[in-house]
Amino acid sequence: MSDREVLEGSTRFFIPEQDENSSFPPGSAAVFFNDRMRLNRDSTNYLLRQLDVSSYFDAMAASGVRGLRVAHECGIPVTINDYSPEAAALIRKNAAMYPENEITVTEEDCRAVMLRQRFDVVDLDPFGTPAPFVDIAATSARHYLFVTATDTAPLCGAHLKAGIRRYGARPMNTEYHSEVGLRLLLGFVVRETVKYDRGIEPLFCFAREHFVRLHLRMTNGAGKGDMALKNIGYIHQCPACPWRMTETAFLPSVQECPECGAKMSRIGPLWVGPINNHEVLTQLAADLDADGMGESVLARLVTILDGELPTPAFYNYHRLAKHWRISPSPADDVIATIRDAGYQASRTHYDGRGIKTDAPLHVLRDAITTRG
Ligand SMILES: C[S@@+](CC[C@H](N)C(=O)[O-])C[C@H]1O[C@@H](n2cnc3c(N)ncnc32)[C@H](O)[C@@H]1O
Repeated sequence: MSDREVLEGSTRFFIPEQDENSSFPPGSAAVFFNDRMRLNRDSTNYLLRQLDVSSYFDAMAASGVRGLRVAHECGIPVTINDYSPEAAALIRKNAAMYPENEITVTEEDCRAVMLRQRFDVVDLDPFGTPAPFVDIAATSARHYLFVTATDTAPLCGAHLKAGIRRYGARPMNTEYHSEVGLRLLLGFVVRETVKYDRGIEPLFCFAREHFVRLHLRMTNGAGKGDMALKNIGYIHQCPACPWRMTETAFLPSVQECPECGAKMSRIGPLWVGPINNHEVLTQLAADLDADGMGESVLARLVTILDGELPTPAFYNYHRLAKHWRISPSPADDVIATIRDAGYQASRTHYDGRGIKTDAPLHVLRDAITTRG
């Protein structure tokens, strides 16, 4: 296989040549590499700068890019693993370029490594679903667990049966399906964690393009597990009109739509609490600014996340306008009008046409039609 040197962040490494004519070039070579996941990797590196950690496990490394960047750019000792012999060989070649960093390379099923060893940070980045790995990762991760999922169709309800099988929860393909996907995955991670008398606190989580990325702090003790479970609940969605409501509960109630009387559909169990930590986002924004990255896509994402209301589930206000057969005002005007009426409202990172609000539908309807 012929390799090509690439630069990401300040880290150089080799990846195999990809077939640019293939339908999905990142998967066309013996070892996987997807340039479009750079923002995902950048987000982790920036977060790690503010965390006090001394070991990081790149469980499913492919070329090793994540672990290499963490070692080289953050100065954290790393273990980089992949069970594929081709990947492990490439990781060794790449690691040899950084003799000054503490890099251990392993070639095993990551579950075997996590069963015998603990790390300050465990990072899961599988093909598709992380579901089979979260249980063991929740015991191996001493302080932080990072998870990527790219199986957005099952998570978001487009492949309903697969979503139910993998995550033990019922998604639904709604206008806010990307948010359902993130919260469903988060709810699953919580349920996998609390059985070990541990809890989680979301630090920096987002959904983007075809993936969900979670950065979580692990907490210890049965009480912390119980606290995490207090954020588990359901979204009740009316199948006939735009009405939805959130319920924090272990078991869902049966609800009727207060707008039109239809029996509400239940989505969950899922995480209904905040998905980000304000202090963490503030520090991320400051670090990005200090690096001259204040205008970057990542910085814009951090800003939107910090302004986003922490509660489920956003409305696509163009869809609402279509439902009510009205023509929509610009998003910022809609948000300002809702706030003037005494309710909370924000944009959301999930959707450029998304609005989060605690306002009732009639206020939303008035705001969408009233031009500033
Ligand atoms: C999506 S790729 C990883 C991409 C990489 N982290 C990056 O940022 O470019 C998934 C990798 O996980 C590896 N993998 C899948 N299951 C594994 C397992 N159980 N143990 C170790 N590696 C595994 C595959 O060989 C593949 O290289």
